[in-house]
Amino acid sequence: MPYKVLVVGSGGHAVNHWLGQMNIHGEFKPVGVVDIDTELLDRAGKIWGIDDDAVATTIDEAMELGIKPDVALIATPIETHHALVIEAMRNGLHVICEKNMAHSMQAGIEMTRCALDHPELATVVGHQYPYWRRSNWAIRKAIGTGKLGQLDAIQCDFNGSGYWNPRNPTRNGWRRFLDHDYLEDWAVHTLDLFRYFTAMDAVTVSADLWRPHWSRRYGTSSINIRMNMAAPEEYEGDVPLACSVETDRARRLWKEGKMPDTWVHAQYVGHAEGMGMFDRGEHWMMQGSRGSLEYMEGGYQKDKPPVLRMITHDLDPGTMKAGKVLPRKDLEWKESNLEPYPMDLECGPAAQWKGNNTESEFDNNCFILEEVKQCIESGGKIKPLRCFENCIKTFAITMGAIESAKRGGQPIFLPDLWEIPRK
Ligand SMILES: NC(=O)c1ccc[n+]([C@@H]2O[C@H](COP(=O)([O-])OP(=O)(O)OC[C@H]3O[C@@H](n4cnc5c(N)ncnc54)[C@H](O)[C@@H]3O)[C@@H](O)[C@H]2O)c1
Repeated sequence: MPYKVLVVGSGGHAVNHWLGQMNIHGEFKPVGVVDIDTELLDRAGKIWGIDDDAVATTIDEAMELGIKPDVALIATPIETHHALVIEAMRNGLHVICEKNMAHSMQAGIEMTRCALDHPELATVVGHQYPYWRRSNWAIRKAIGTGKLGQLDAIQCDFNGSGYWNPRNPTRNGWRRFLDHDYLEDWAVHTLDLFRYFTAMDAVTVSADLWRPHWSRRYGTSSINIRMNMAAPEEYEGDVPLACSVETDRARRLWKEGKMPDTWVHAQYVGHAEGMGMFDRGEHWMMQGSRGSLEYMEGGYQKDKPPVLRMITHDLDPGTMKAGKVLPRKDLEWKESNLEPYPMDLECGPAAQWKGNNTESEFDNNCFILEEVKQCIESGGKIKPLRCFENCIKTFAITMGAIESAKRGGQPIFLPDLWEIPRK
């Protein structure tokens, strides 16, 4: 029996993406639609293949109508996520909530608290980038298996526009009213990749957020975000999201400029105006004690396929002399060479799903659906990679960046933002 899904917000992303992903996965089936656009509800039966009267304007109303879903798929504008998630969970529903998780730190914390109070319910935020392109898995695997030695720095330059152009009517809607639409609605995916690639969290963030003076947007569209990243055991005790001796130590070391060598220095520079020769491009560089890794898509190399390049060496960096040529091992990967998917490491509970999966359609949100299925079937024991308790740490980067930008780029210690005091 497929899991029954109540679609909340039957807009662009739900119809163009989630509907297809549910069909491909095969074990999730829409049974009802909630939307505040009542004209849209008139067409929902046809779009989603559900009964014409299995529609409502609120989740409570849908439940009263007798629609009996297992899962709420919340694909509505960001500022509605908090209330809709709480309403869904109060009705005992598992929740898939689109990004950005919420509109304020307080709202994100309340959602996370609700998830902690209901460990039996699956929660997940729609961060599909870890599952999106094979190169992302390959990068995670290279770092996770120590190919670069001890990681020291990671940076990404990103330029994009495409459907984000403010003159594109299909993307206008609610996004143009966000103060920081690029950060909250798009860049957050890339920030999530910093966490995924390193298996670390941003412990501090500082940011400039701005809008070029010639921009036609209302919110900011350029960002420069700097982060100090550390593994959870370096800043968190046994109780996740609670302040501990380790948290106090990390805060003190950072404040005194004594950050441990194991912390990673990260920078993300992004522009969403898509002007001139940088209209589209993504360039990652990662540096460790034994190697470097680069991923390049678009940008200067425009229409060529993406490049994933790794250079490793066997020397101890401490013994290297200036100008010495290293005995290097170069590796170039093409997406097509990455089969079978390098999915055996840190790909969430769905990692082993389908084994050596080479069917290209099994990507993106199919993995999120699989994670939710495994969570439900394990009674909440197997959590999706970006369950609320985890995703709050990606979300906090965006909220911390906004806070930092308001204070002229002052750094923010993120565990203070996501802390949930416990008895
Ligand atoms: N993960 C991704 O790659 C990705 C891509 C695009 C969009 N998204 C996310 O999906 C969500 C929706 O984006 P979209 O582009 O589909 O927006 P959209 O404007 O196309 O659709 C939103 C829908 O929600 C409905 N809605 C608004 N308020 C509601 C409420 N209170 N209750 C019920 N329905 C309500 C609207 O009427 C509309 O039909 C956003 O959170 C966005 O960030 C994620």
